[in-house]
Amino acid sequence: MQRTVLVTGGCGFIGVNFVRLLLGGRDRWRVVNLDKLTYAGNLASLADVADSPGYHFVKGDICDQDLVGALFDRYRFDTVVHFAAESHVDRSIAGPAEFIRTNIFGTYTLLDAARKHWIEAGPPGRADSCRFLHVSTDEVFGSLGDTGYFTESTRYDPRSPYSASKASSDHLARAYYHTYGLPVLITNCSNNYGPYQFPEKLIPLIINNGLHGRDLPVYGDGGNVRDWLYVLDHCEAILRVVEQGRPGESYNIGGRNEKKNLEVVGLLCDILDRQAGLLPSGLPRRSLITFVRDRPGHDRRYAIDAGKIAEELGWSPKVTFEQGMEQTVDWYLTNRAWLAAVIDGSYQEYYRRMYGGRDELQGQGKQQ
Ligand code: NAD
Ligand code: DAU
Repeated sequence: MQRTVLVTGGCGFIGVNFVRLLLGGRDRWRVVNLDKLTYAGNLASLADVADSPGYHFVKGDICDQDLVGALFDRYRFDTVVHFAAESHVDRSIAGPAEFIRTNIFGTYTLLDAARKHWIEAGPPGRADSCRFLHVSTDEVFGSLGDTGYFTESTRYDPRSPYSASKASSDHLARAYYHTYGLPVLITNCSNNYGPYQFPEKLIPLIINNGLHGRDLPVYGDGGNVRDWLYVLDHCEAILRVVEQGRPGESYNIGGRNEKKNLEVVGLLCDILDRQAGLLPSGLPRRSLITFVRDRPGHDRRYAIDAGKIAEELGWSPKVTFEQGMEQTVDWYLTNRAWLAAVIDGSYQEYYRRMYGGRDELQGQGKQQ
């Protein structure tokens, strides 16, 4: 049976990969992508699939209660996969306000619209066939020492404005399950990497700077550890949770790929040297590594125990770190025009070109 899913933030890094995965499943999913197109949203990343049957794009804000309610009325969603967020820790330190608004108030807006449509106004039992997946992060658990893993029962201990706003949204999502019986599922995932990631995040930033022979900034001593997961493995895990997960549960997702930042940057340098050639000076890219001032409150180590999703839902990552990094560098080299448009800002013209500057509700017309 065909399902109708509201994907929020479908023009961001993970959202683009997820929308592509759904559309690749042909007619199983009718997909409405609601995205505000902030600096992190890139509509051009979906240009080649925008005419897929059953796909609709809506430019709009998840905090806009009227718009979200109108979309629920119009499309009668039975599934929500909620990615939309402000996602970059450094930006949350420089200016937390938008993180509080989008990540907390935006999540509340979506949860409440689902409650109204599925429980309050829906026929009895309607909510049983619906699913609301809230996509969250391992950063809600805080920072680990040298040993141990985050499990689903690890105490929340967020330490940046970003992670605190995500923790708050997780609590709201859980509250809507317990209080109203909304069929909510939560996923807490580790660091993703792969195609279409905005080059402010470590891996694409290093690739972009490395390509242009610029300094490669490593925060602090480079000893902070992240647990890396290839983005398509994450998307498949999300789909598995939507289709088979138990409402009210949360699932940790991770790649068992713990790496120190300095190791990641070094490996990227080596792959770039091999795939793109040495620097014009003849030097290897490792010569560009520069230690810079540390991020305030920088969490030292993240590591996920993904045993629950493996045992209950049979998910495990398919792509090794080495394969994933090779594929990722190759993708950015092959898609230099995508990267250049993001760097020079011209990607933001795409919506205007496609929709002629009409407002968000009119904007839906293009792909209907
Ligand atoms: P991203 O920053 O690349 O994309 C966010 C998207 O949300 C953009 O398309 C943006 O335009 C949209 N958006 C922002 N504010 C909006 C609003 N008010 N209304 C509508 N759309 C809005 O983020 P990402 O890296 O793709 O992350 C997606 C989700 O996954 C986030 O919730 C993030 O917390 C979570 N997550 C990310 C990672 C990671 O490593 N990137 C890991 C774990 C969890
Ligand atoms: O763990 C999941 C989280 O991973 C997600 O919830 C976030 O949305 C996502 O942005 C990511 O957060 P991080 O802060 O871990 O990602 P980032 O790419 O910003 O940084 C990765 C590590 O690299 C971190 O320890 C900081 C460091 N770093 C980052 C940048 C941008 C550097 O050393 N130099 C840099 O220039």
